[in-house]
Amino acid sequence: MKKIVINGMRPLYGEIEISGMKNSALPIVYSTLLVNGKCTVDNIPFVNDVLLSLEILRHLGVKVTAKSSSCIEIDTTDISLCDPPMDLVRQMRASYYLMGAQLGRFGTAHVCYPGGDDFGIRPIDQHIKGFEALGAKVNVSGGYIDIEAKNTLSGANVFFDVVSVGATVNVMLAAVRTEGVTIIESAAREPHIVDLANFLNTCGAQISGAGTDTIKITGVKELHGCNYTIIPDMIEAGTYMVAAAVAGGKVKINNIIPKHMESISAKLLEMNVSVEEYDDYVVVSRDGDLSCCNIKTLPYPGFPTDMQPQFASALCFADGVSHIFEGVWDNRFRYVDELRCMGANIDVSGRNATIKGTRNSLTGAAVRAIDIRAGAAMIIAALGAEGRTEIAGVDVIERGYVDMVGKLAAIGADIFKIGE
Ligand code: UD1
Repeated sequence: MKKIVINGMRPLYGEIEISGMKNSALPIVYSTLLVNGKCTVDNIPFVNDVLLSLEILRHLGVKVTAKSSSCIEIDTTDISLCDPPMDLVRQMRASYYLMGAQLGRFGTAHVCYPGGDDFGIRPIDQHIKGFEALGAKVNVSGGYIDIEAKNTLSGANVFFDVVSVGATVNVMLAAVRTEGVTIIESAAREPHIVDLANFLNTCGAQISGAGTDTIKITGVKELHGCNYTIIPDMIEAGTYMVAAAVAGGKVKINNIIPKHMESISAKLLEMNVSVEEYDDYVVVSRDGDLSCCNIKTLPYPGFPTDMQPQFASALCFADGVSHIFEGVWDNRFRYVDELRCMGANIDVSGRNATIKGTRNSLTGAAVRAIDIRAGAAMIIAALGAEGRTEIAGVDVIERGYVDMVGKLAAIGADIFKIGE
């Protein structure tokens, strides 16, 4: 079995290049289904979820050509409506962007329920509400979602009951080529929503307000190809910032947008970590002990749920009692059992976790990556732990991180893969 092995307690020194943002690349890749022509997309992170998405697109007739190690050309000229393969769609969450993309291009979509990480119940009622507001008929049965809107789609007001990244993306995709004006209220404000809007606008769409809670989309007849560069991955950057905080040393994290890092940097500063911000990089270092703090995850610009497990690992090493409230998902503490194998003292009650930390609290153990960010949390825990940790579930981590082992090894971590 493939595993990541880490011998802990080695400080990190050097530079890390941050890759393109997975959570931008995924909706952008699916949104190319709305384009008639070729798009050249740069700063693509070739993580497993992106590779799987490109594989799904190939089944729909899309031609994907690699241009460099981080650039692809996506040619959607000859696509036709067909059912995407169920076994692939069910391996990931973002495949549900096929709903909005196929609806926007063909006026109909037939897609099976997506898979993805298990954070508790992951409803799609807001996606359906949005499609129906635009005039589609939606039928969910037998594990499939049937969406029908031949000649009935038109711009409309969509008011979401909860802030949802996925539903915001799907309604944007369905509305961008739909006649009339669509206004999305209570829209998600994540940087990846802005990136998707910028990409679509570069293809000729008329979207304004992305990054605020009201997005206005004026439907256009067609979208054309374009050249586009994906924004840096704030969660990847945040993960390495926390890794540096736990391991100690001094790490320069390149190719980031510091504005996107604000909630993460603020927490690290509270934890007695030094974070120096520059135009497109940060330098993270720690001399003294980590301090405890409290965290509440929220939609952007709040503290991201995708950084919650990594911070939980770090707080195991912080003196005192920290509290985490998970404000987005019902069940995102399943990884805590793995940290307990390493000696963590964490109580979980519903959406609350209480972490009693001390400097040398964790020791190496055999653990596994429950999901992408939980896997990153195991790596962070192992970097600070005494002794050797073996982490199973390497493929899970590689769904979301580009060469995490290589990037950490290059700055002094004693980390390598076995069983390949
Ligand atoms: C969410 C995160 C995103 C993160 C991803 C993976 C937010 C707002 N979104 O995005 O940053 O990258 O998880 O960890 O932080 N919901 C409904 N009905 C729906 C859709 C969602 O009730 O139709 C609820 C969900 O149960 C959840 C919340 O809305 O409590 C946010 O979900 P959503 O943003 O859609 O999830 P993702 O797009 O996966």
